[in-house]
Amino acid sequence: MLKKNILLKIKKLALETDHDVAFGGKSKGNKHLLRVVHVAKFLAQKTGANDFIVIAGAFLHDTALPSGNDYNYLKNKKIVKNLLKHFNLSANELNNIAECVASHEGTITPKTLEAKVVHDADTLEKSGLLGIIRHTWKMTNFKKINHEKVEDSDVDMILCHVEWRRKNLQTPIAKKIGKYLSTPINKQKAKIIVKLSANMAFNGVITEKIALALRKNLNKKENQKLREQLNLGYLKKY
Ligand SMILES: [Fe+2]
Ligand SMILES: [Fe+2]
Repeated sequence: MLKKNILLKIKKLALETDHDVAFGGKSKGNKHLLRVVHVAKFLAQKTGANDFIVIAGAFLHDTALPSGNDYNYLKNKKIVKNLLKHFNLSANELNNIAECVASHEGTITPKTLEAKVVHDADTLEKSGLLGIIRHTWKMTNFKKINHEKVEDSDVDMILCHVEWRRKNLQTPIAKKIGKYLSTPINKQKAKIIVKLSANMAFNGVITEKIALALRKNLNKKENQKLREQLNLGYLKKY
């Protein structure tokens, strides 16, 4: 089978096993997956990583989510290898794709260039204002945040995670982008963002619509940065 056809099949598999069903179907319609693939392709070009492995890994990176979480390196690997067992991939290809999926959350340091690229593409989604919205979304739907009673400690947890991920960026190009996307924000405004995002996340509203609802709470510069993250306009600068 041609590589292009394999990637089309992998895309279909990722939509069916992650995008359409994760978080009880709440993430359906969210553009996160497609943005990660796009950014991963961009980073692959800039770093010389193998684009077939990177694109396949990016499509499949969150396939462990429906199992409850995607933080466990070995579990992530097992799930994706099982999903790909009838794909006629070489052992090398299978291992390399699985490596990208297994370490994308940064719970272990990514081992290959392709895994670093997929990790960084996902991390850029967890950077800046989009990162605050997306991590709040995930933590609310993991029941780690009570949307009816958002505490200061929840806001600290979200801001810490976003900063931790940015500091763990692996490739020089993504480190530069991460620095650009990181937006200084005071605690009071961060709390407004977390509260609104948690409420909407609980009700199954996708990231893009949360970002729209937040517009009135952000200044011109913050709105522009968030828009650039959503439409990937920032890639043109690199
Ligand atoms: Fe993930
Ligand atoms: Fe992701």
